[in-house]
Amino acid sequence: MTTSSPRTIVITGASAGIGRAAAQAFGRRGDRVVLLARGEAGLAAAAAEVEAAGGSALPIPTDVADAAAVDAAATRAEETFGPIDVWVNDAFTSVFAPFADISPEEFRRVTEVSYLGFVYGTMAALARMRTRGRGTIVQVGSALGVRAIPLQSAYCGAKHAINGFTESLRTELLHDHSDIHVTVVQMPALNTPQFSWVLSRLPRHPQPVPPIYQPEVAARAIVYAADHPRRKTYWVGASTAATIVGQHAVPALLDRYLAKTGFSSQQTGEAVGPDRPNNLWEPLDGVDGKDYGAHGIFDDRAWARSPQRWLAENARGWSLAAAGAALIACGAAAARYR
Ligand SMILES: NC(=O)c1ccc[n+]([C@@H]2O[C@H](COP(=O)([O-])OP(=O)(O)OC[C@H]3O[C@@H](n4cnc5c(N)ncnc54)[C@H](OP(=O)(O)O)[C@@H]3O)[C@@H](O)[C@H]2O)c1
Repeated sequence: MTTSSPRTIVITGASAGIGRAAAQAFGRRGDRVVLLARGEAGLAAAAAEVEAAGGSALPIPTDVADAAAVDAAATRAEETFGPIDVWVNDAFTSVFAPFADISPEEFRRVTEVSYLGFVYGTMAALARMRTRGRGTIVQVGSALGVRAIPLQSAYCGAKHAINGFTESLRTELLHDHSDIHVTVVQMPALNTPQFSWVLSRLPRHPQPVPPIYQPEVAARAIVYAADHPRRKTYWVGASTAATIVGQHAVPALLDRYLAKTGFSSQQTGEAVGPDRPNNLWEPLDGVDGKDYGAHGIFDDRAWARSPQRWLAENARGWSLAAAGAALIACGAAAARYR
C-alpha cells in the first residue's frame, strides 16, 4: 500500500459532483489524477482544476458501462502516469420515478452504469494491481445501498449490489493475504448536480433528503479511505449512521416511515416539466454542453462539515460505541412498535 503522494489515482465520474470534488482533493496533494466520465466540457474543467491545485491531470472520455472502454482507459492511465495506486469508482446515473414508471431499458441502463460500471472499474484496477500485489480500490457507496427508499428502485438496487460484490471480493483478497485493499465509503445526501440532470418523472424538482452535505465532505472521506483502506466500510454523516443502524434494528418500521415521508422529502416545491434534459444515455456536459461542476443547487442548505465523519476517522472506538448505543435505542423502539 502506497500512501505518500504523488500517486496515480483513477476516478470514474470525475467530471461533476463527488468525483469532481475528490479529483480536486487529490490534486491538492500533488497526485496524478486520471479523470473518467463522458462529458468533455466537464472533464476539461475538472482537469484544469486538478492542475491549478498542484496535481497532474489526464481526462479520458469514457462510458463506464463499456467494459472494454474502461479497460482501455486503465491502460492509457498507466502508460501516461505509471502504475495505478488508487482507483475510485464513483460514476453513476439514476431514474427518479416510481418503479412502475421505469422501462426495462432504463432500468438496465442504470444498472449497467451504476452497478456494472463499478464492477468493470474494479476489474480493470484489479487486473493491474495483481501484477504488483498492491493497490487500493475505493467504492463510493451510499446509505441507500443499505436502506432503500421509494422512487429510486434502480439506483438502490445498484448500490446494494455494489456492497455484495465488494464484500465477496474482499473475502477473496483476505484469503490470499493480498496487499490489495477494497473499501466502501457509505455517503449521506450531498449537494451535487445529479438532482438537476438525472432522468426524473417526478412532478417537482428532485432534492437530496436532508440533512444535505457539501461534496467536499465526501471528497475528504474518499481521500482518507484511500489512505486507510484496510477498513471494510466508512460511514459519512450522522444521517448515514442513523440510517444503517436503524435499518438493522427496525427495517419494517422504516418501510412504513419512508412510505409516508419518502415521496415529499425527495422533492422541492418547484414544479418541473416532464421533458427536462437528462444524462441517462448521453452526457449533458459534453462538448457543446455546460460544465456543471462539483456543487448542485443546494449550497444555501448544505453543511460543509460532518462531525460524525471526523469521529469515524479519528475515534473509531467512540463511534462504534455511539453506533452501539443507537442500535440499543432502535431495538427498544422496535420492541415498542413491531
Ligand atoms: N449526491 C448524493 O446525494 C449521493 C449520496 C450518496 C451517494 N452518492 C454517490 O456518489 C456518486 C456520485 O454521485 P453524484 O451525486 O456526485 O453524481 P452526479 O453529480 O450526477 O455526477 C455523476 C458523475 O458520473 C458521471 N457519469 C454518469 N454517467 C456516466 C457513464 N455512463 N459513464 C461514465 N461516467 C458517467 C457524470 O459525468 P458524465 O455525465 O459527464 O459522464 C458525473 O461525472 C455515486 O456513486 C452516488 O451513488 C451520491
